[in-house]
Amino acid sequence: MRYISLSVGETKKFAAELVKKNYPSKKGALVFGLVGELGAGKTHFAQGAAVALGIKRNITSPTFVLMKKYGISSGELKMMYHIDCYRLDSVRDILDLGWSKIILDRRNVVFVEWAEKIKSILPRDTILIFIKDLGGEKREITID
Ligand SMILES: Nc1ncnc2c1ncn2[C@@H]1O[C@H](COP(=O)(O)OP(=O)(O)O)[C@@H](O)[C@H]1O
Ligand SMILES: [Mg+2]
Repeated sequence: MRYISLSVGETKKFAAELVKKNYPSKKGALVFGLVGELGAGKTHFAQGAAVALGIKRNITSPTFVLMKKYGISSGELKMMYHIDCYRLDSVRDILDLGWSKIILDRRNVVFVEWAEKIKSILPRDTILIFIKDLGGEKREITID
């Protein structure tokens, strides 16, 4: 599926709808992999999704900390994990964060920026989102 976003607002709204459409997951955590160059809009996408999950805290890029977690107070969901693999050296660093346990829990929603860097450990049913900057505020969002 392909969507053209013409603004940050549209990207966030699209992200919010995508999350709502895919919840609850059938098995394990709901994992979204975000793929796209720097400035494509991966973090803004995660921000839009966070709003849909009822997270009031501002979502900032976890580039320097690798992972941030946000509690979800409503519904059956418990936690949103936001991971940024931009500076990642080894897949092992993600495993060391407790990855296996995180992705097993149906109450978790996980967003991974630069997901292609940890392809080998992504669950098979990960929803991959490709974002491409088409100039100005135009973004092509493709979902596999
Ligand atoms: N349609 C759009 N969707 C998302 N971001 C957009 C859009 N148009 C412009 N932008 C801008 O592109 C940048 C995206 O930044 P960010 O989400 O941090 O990207 P990434 O996490 O992929 O590096 C922001 O400065 C944002 O304002
Ligand atoms: Mg980012």
